[in-house]
Amino acid sequence: MIKKRTLSRIISVMIIAVILFQISCKPETPTDLTKENVIPKPLTVAATGDYFCLGKKASIYIQEETDELKSIAEYLAGRLRPATGFPLEIKAVSGTPGKGNIYLTLSGADASLGDEGYSLTITKKLVTIAANKSAGLFNGIQTLRQLLPANIEMSSVQDLDWHIPGGTITDYPAYNYRGVMLDVTRHFFTVEEVKRVIDLVSVYKINHLHLHLSDDQGWRVEIKSWPNLALYGGKTEVGGGVGGSYTQEQYGELVKYADAHFVTIVPEIDMPGHTNAALASYPDLNISGKATELYTGTEVGFSTLATKKEITYKFVEDVFRELASMTSGPYLHIGGDESHVTKKEDYIPFVERVQDIVIKLGKTPIGWDEISLGKLRPGSVAQYWSSAENANKAVSQGAKLLMSPASRAYIDMKYDSTTAIGYTWAGLIEVDKAYNWDPATLEPGIGRENIIGIEAALWTETITNMEEIEFLTFPRLPGLAEVGWSHSSLRNWDEYKIRLGNHAKRFNALEINYYPSKLVPWVE
Ligand code: ACM
Repeated sequence: MIKKRTLSRIISVMIIAVILFQISCKPETPTDLTKENVIPKPLTVAATGDYFCLGKKASIYIQEETDELKSIAEYLAGRLRPATGFPLEIKAVSGTPGKGNIYLTLSGADASLGDEGYSLTITKKLVTIAANKSAGLFNGIQTLRQLLPANIEMSSVQDLDWHIPGGTITDYPAYNYRGVMLDVTRHFFTVEEVKRVIDLVSVYKINHLHLHLSDDQGWRVEIKSWPNLALYGGKTEVGGGVGGSYTQEQYGELVKYADAHFVTIVPEIDMPGHTNAALASYPDLNISGKATELYTGTEVGFSTLATKKEITYKFVEDVFRELASMTSGPYLHIGGDESHVTKKEDYIPFVERVQDIVIKLGKTPIGWDEISLGKLRPGSVAQYWSSAENANKAVSQGAKLLMSPASRAYIDMKYDSTTAIGYTWAGLIEVDKAYNWDPATLEPGIGRENIIGIEAALWTETITNMEEIEFLTFPRLPGLAEVGWSHSSLRNWDEYKIRLGNHAKRFNALEINYYPSKLVPWVE
């Protein structure tokens, strides 16, 4: 039997322990959720002044034990475990979980949040993310990561209090398509490098990764019915390096990884121009019937498939059939840009027939804005990069646009004249220029209703490694992600640059090699 006095001592010690824990986790300054530096800027934020403290006993609760919820909870735990060192067990619960936990639920969210929206409620007792679909939970998790101290992104245990300001965030995107394009042809990037790109861009709620898989300098994905494309056409890259290509197994692994991050891969086979790697691999695809040499330079516009030969359409069908079978998303990108040596009268029937091939495979064609010179099939999407006239032609045919205006969204452009890598043909793109535009008012005749979203494009003629990818991508990409996610009335450069400056600590914790633009008040 425990004596009464002993019992009351135990209780007192427990009470003191609880109080100490609360005090020890108390933030130095009062919290204000509305002053947090979330990128992209959420739609509505209401603060309570309270805070939640993530402690070592916290669990991640899910409303039921489905694979979908378990895997998203595992993803969250995987983000939080390294820096906290907490076990963060995943448990199913019926009803509301007890104090000190995180709760992910697919019930109770407002229908107006759509598929990607979420509500994030932080009280002293509980952090709740509610959404209609798991994509919404994933987006809520990205916001939650940004509300924790920046060291949450470190890969080793940090001795810190993990508090989160109290209140409610309700958020959904302005545009459904928020993408980044990575050119893996001019220089090849490995599966691990592409996975890191997915990790880093998904922090900012980017939900499409367009892979530019074929060009004059290289063919980067195995096609079993045309094996030389990868075996021979993938052998080199700009500058004469060894190049490379993904086996179908590796490509499948990338698709799976992207899917787990709610990123849809959009594979591009550029045609009828930008095809030298294919033309070097198979003589029959050439007008002359003779194979070309592999190409390691950076000129554009000199190659074309033989658009009048039936074998070319067999090639297109085979390639897209194999790619479609590895593609979980709706889109296949058909390229179509800068086909300067394809006669217009050959180009038009070609892009029309290629769209039909893609549609027959159950997929939706996307092509660069030039494809609007032909008849766009219902549902086809034109990607505006350079010609407003072409973009308007697409709109007048009733097609939707993906907005990648080179002067804003081509993140292979230099920041300023001193930037060591990158191009300048579309102008210098400082961080403010990439941010300060509205897709819906950029071009006369192109409105909100014509646009599915935006895509940043990273061409890699001048980029040879991950550090360089990161340098040109960060910090422009978070701004472009905000252009796509946040409603334009909420966006303002002077306010954004403060939020961005506060992301330096996160970039450092994630070991991102970012460009420290002088326009941004960095807080390290
Ligand atoms: C492009 O930049 N040629 C689409």
